Amino acid sequence: MSSLINTYLSLVVVLAICGISSGRDLTRNCITEQDLSDPFESTVLSLHNAARSKHEDTPPLCWSESIAADAKTHADFLADPEQNPEGFEIKSSYMYGENLYRAKILFSGTTGAEIARGAVQSWYNQEPLYNYNFEHGVYSGSGKQRASAHLYSTKKFTQVVWRSSENMGCATSTRHSHYYFVVCLYTPEGSKGDKSTYHDNVRKKIACDPPTIYKGRHTTAGPFLLDQEVRVRCEEGYTLEGSKQGTCLKNKTFHFEEEPRCTGCEVQGIANGSASIEEGTVIADGETVIYSCDKGFSLDSAPRVLQCLGNEFIHSLPKCRKEGYCLRPELENGFAYARSIDDDFRYRGEDVGWDHNIPEGENITIICGTGYELVGNYTATCRGEKFSGQVGTCQLCYIKDLKTIYNRYVNVYTGMVYDRPPICFGPNAEKVSASSNSHISQLLVVLMFFSYTLNPVT
Ligand SMILES: *[C@@H]1O[C@H](CO)[C@@H](O)[C@H](O)[C@H]1NC(C)=O
Ligand SMILES: *[C@@H]1O[C@H](CO)[C@@H](O)[C@H](O)[C@H]1NC(C)=O
Ligand SMILES: *[C@@H]1O[C@H](CO)[C@@H](O)[C@H](O)[C@H]1NC(C)=O
Ligand SMILES: *[C@@H]1O[C@H](CO)[C@@H](O)[C@H](O)[C@H]1NC(C)=O
Repeated sequence: MSSLINTYLSLVVVLAICGISSGRDLTRNCITEQDLSDPFESTVLSLHNAARSKHEDTPPLCWSESIAADAKTHADFLADPEQNPEGFEIKSSYMYGENLYRAKILFSGTTGAEIARGAVQSWYNQEPLYNYNFEHGVYSGSGKQRASAHLYSTKKFTQVVWRSSENMGCATSTRHSHYYFVVCLYTPEGSKGDKSTYHDNVRKKIACDPPTIYKGRHTTAGPFLLDQEVRVRCEEGYTLEGSKQGTCLKNKTFHFEEEPRCTGCEVQGIANGSASIEEGTVIADGETVIYSCDKGFSLDSAPRVLQCLGNEFIHSLPKCRKEGYCLRPELENGFAYARSIDDDFRYRGEDVGWDHNIPEGENITIICGTGYELVGNYTATCRGEKFSGQVGTCQLCYIKDLKTIYNRYVNVYTGMVYDRPPICFGPNAEKVSASSNSHISQLLVVLMFFSYTLNPVT
């Protein structure tokens, strides 16, 4: 018991240490927009963080009084007609990331919040010009100069959303009450021009993948950026249940008041039989379709009345079996071979049909595709329109990595080379070959014949 408690305690300690080292917010006291009373300061910070929240994995910035003080010194310098007679946007000598803005005061009542909005908007307006892929060789410009020119013309935007910047401070200063300067400083500094740092620091805008709705589609065009709406509708005949519209969330999934769903089932036809509703018609959730067989054919044991539940029929389609015959079993990854019928087709050079019924007294042989092994009975006989015993199934062999090299088959694990695809490597392989030796030569011939129609090993 005490060792359990010790384990628990050490786990708590480990978790606490991990928590401190991974989340930077835990170690520092972050000044957020709520802590700032000055409208310029709280607006400039909240607009930065709103812009950052539109980008993947980009945490908010914290305000720094000391950085803001440095920004004020520089803003006053820029606004001073004696020190900066031309009114240029001159970069400071601080070791910070830096964004500058200058604008005319259009009317005397311009507020601090409006000044902040003008600055951040003008910086973030560079966003559409930024090529998020340029460093992966997708950048359409040529040579280093084009790339750096591209980064230069978008550097204000990239600093605003620079992922590893943590703190900022901004200030504004007015010159002759005609125009004003905004100075924002950031640390750690971003947008330094080193191309390799951009991929990790300028993250793509958060966007949702288009919603995937079975038999439904979206009617609004993407990309579906954060907070954007998507509208959906169903294909002809299907009924929309749930919400018609959703919103793209931060975790890149859409929020629908109620998950949209298109209900309805498409009626399918059957061979040698018919459905009570025309093939291709979409019937609504809860409706039914009834199947019957043509004269001389009868239904297999599957239900003849199929009900649509949501998007699918509860039961699989029934089949019509020629009276006095068995339905050939459908095997995934294998084939039920009936010598008397199939040899005839082979002789005529025709495809052996999956839908050919098996006559009374005929034996079928189960042949599995390359890489699959037989589980269960190898043969069965059609007796009274049913197969005797249970028909075997084909299951994936435990070694499926069979490579074809120069028309030979190589087991990539053992290095064994085969002229023909080996029947199976699985644990049942021994048993099958031991109990049915006489069939093996026949099986190989048939396998060669079917090897193209069965699932190839990838
Ligand atoms: C995404 O966020 C919403 C709301 O915060 C939540 O309900 C949903 O489960 C999330 N989806 C995923 C895939 O995390
Ligand atoms: C119905 O069965 C006959 C022979 O049994 C076959 O030739 C024919 O193709 C079948 N019809 C359909 C639509 O599959
Ligand atoms: C089917 O198999 C049984 C037993 O293996 C055999 O006696 C019979 O002759 C076979 N039938 C046909 C039509 O080949
Ligand atoms: C194989 O067939 C026989 C009848 O022929 C049956 O008794 C037996 O259960 C079957 N084996 C398996 C594994 O299905």
